[in-house]
Amino acid sequence: MSSEFILSGEEERDSRVKDLVRGAESAGINNPENRIVITGKGGTGKTTITAILSYLIAEKHKVLDVDADPQMNLPYALGLDRKVAAKIVPLNVQADYIEEKTGARPGSGWGEFLSLNPDVSDVVERFGIGINDKISILVMGTLHKSGIGCLCPENDLLESVVRHISIRNDERILMDTEAGVEHFGRAIARGFGHAIVVSEVSFNSIQVASSAVTLAWDLGIKNIHLVFNRVAGNKDDIDSLIDEIDPSIPFTVDQIPFDENLRTVDPSVKPLLTSNSKMVPAVRKLLNRIYESS
Ligand SMILES: Nc1ncnc2c1ncn2[C@@H]1O[C@H](COP(=O)(O)OP(=O)(O)OP(=O)(O)O)[C@@H](O)[C@H]1O
Ligand SMILES: [Mg+2]
Repeated sequence: MSSEFILSGEEERDSRVKDLVRGAESAGINNPENRIVITGKGGTGKTTITAILSYLIAEKHKVLDVDADPQMNLPYALGLDRKVAAKIVPLNVQADYIEEKTGARPGSGWGEFLSLNPDVSDVVERFGIGINDKISILVMGTLHKSGIGCLCPENDLLESVVRHISIRNDERILMDTEAGVEHFGRAIARGFGHAIVVSEVSFNSIQVASSAVTLAWDLGIKNIHLVFNRVAGNKDDIDSLIDEIDPSIPFTVDQIPFDENLRTVDPSVKPLLTSNSKMVPAVRKLLNRIYESS
C-alpha cells in the first residue's frame, strides 16, 4: 500500500468529519461541554470515578458511558449483572457490524476496500446496553492507537464511533479510557470539552497526569480537572505535586478521600450511593465544578 493512499484517506476523513461537525454545529447539537473524558495512570480510580459520576449526572440527564478501556470493567463498576457483563461482545469484535459498515471483516486484510468514515449513527441503538432508564453503556474494546497508519476495518469503525459520539447531544457522554496517555490521541479526544485527569498523591502518578494535562490542552480541551484520588490528609504533598504541572495551563484541582467502603462493595459502586461513603460527596463536588465551568 502506498503512503499516498493513507494520506488521501486521512484527508478525506478529515474533511468529511469537518462537514459532519459543521452540520451538527449549525443544527445546534454539538456541545463539547456535554462530553467528559477520564484519563490518568493505571489504578488511580478512573473507572470508579466514571461510574459514580454517571449515577450523579443521571439525577438530571441521560448518560451514555463509553468504555474505551480494553479491560472493559466499567459495566461491572456500574453494577450491571455480572453474568450479563461477562457476555458483552465489544464493538471491535462485532465482525458482522464492522463488515456491514466498512465493507471488510476484521482480519481480512488492509484497507484499500474500506468505506472510510462509515455512518455509525445506529451504533448506540444497536449495541448500547441499558444500565437503567437513564444510563447506557457502549463497550468499545481495544481502540488501536491513532497515527500508526492502521487502516484495518475495526480501527476505522471505532474511530468513526468516537466521532459519532462526539456530535451526539441528547445526553451527557462519559468516556473511561485505558491507563496512561498513549491512547489520548486526537481521534479519541476530539469533540470533548472536559478532561478529568486522575492522579494518586505520588510523584510517578503526577508525571502521567502532567503529560495528560498538557496533551488535553494541546488537543483543545478547554476544561481540565486534575483530581487527586485516595487522599489521606497529605495537603503539603499535593501542593508540591501540583508544581509538576505546566503553570501556563489552566486547570482546577479536586481531592477525593480514601474510602474504605470501596473494599467491600468492589466492583459495583451502586451501594456507595446510598451509604455513608466519603467518596460520593467528593465526586459530587467535582461534578458541581464541571457544571459551573460549562
Ligand atoms: N477513593 C478511593 N478509596 C479507596 N479505594 C478506591 C478509591 N478509588 C478507587 N478505589 C479502588 O482502587 C482500585 C482501582 O480503581 P479503578 O479500577 O477505578 O482504577 P482505574 O484507574 O480505572 O484502573 P485501570 O487503570 O486498571 O483501569 C479499585 O479497587 C477501587 O475500588
Ligand atoms: Mg479502569
